[in-house]
Amino acid sequence: MRRGNPTEPALRAEYHSRLRLPMVMLLVLLNACAREPEPDVTFEAVVDTKQLMDWIMDPNSDVVWGSAGTIMTLEGEQDLAPTTQEGWDAVRNAAATLAEVGNLLKMPAHSRGEDWNEIASGLTSTAVLLIDAAEQQNDQLVFDYGGQLYNVCTACHQRYMLPESE
Ligand code: HEC
Repeated sequence: MRRGNPTEPALRAEYHSRLRLPMVMLLVLLNACAREPEPDVTFEAVVDTKQLMDWIMDPNSDVVWGSAGTIMTLEGEQDLAPTTQEGWDAVRNAAATLAEVGNLLKMPAHSRGEDWNEIASGLTSTAVLLIDAAEQQNDQLVFDYGGQLYNVCTACHQRYMLPESE
């Protein structure tokens, strides 16, 4: 195949026909971007904050915490680290859910202001580290970041959870 400046007519024609579709698509896209006003999307929360905690946060953090470290059983010490690809995938998936929950917590339906949003961002960044640890199948890192995750939960609960809901 010939490359370089499209000086010869045949080559120029080929050059143009191969560029035309991408160029048209790019222009359409640019045009759409330029004309797009503020996205008119309203997000409606399906669950309230307590349900978000009980139904999404709790089960997914349990997957993380149940996948690193050791527990004592009648048979002796048992290592909790996953031993299969599916097991590690489940840790990664739970961490990804928690990362996105950090975003959900900033929705107007859940957010209680700037400090709240900052803790929610801390949830997301910790969960991103957990995704990475699970991808590396590094149970020590899952354990360490799992501890960090626990601190994020506590930081928010100490500040925002009403005594009667504890
Ligand atoms: C950004 C703030 C925030 C973060 C982060 C957070 N929570 Fe919560 N959580 C709350 C609030 C507020 C409530 C009380 C909700 C209510 O009762 O209306 C709550 C309640 C709960 C409840 C219900 C408790 C009860 O007795 O009803 C559970 C379970 C829970 N959280 C688990 C977690 C876990 C696990 C994490 C971390 C992985 C976490 N939360 C992180 C704000 C947060």
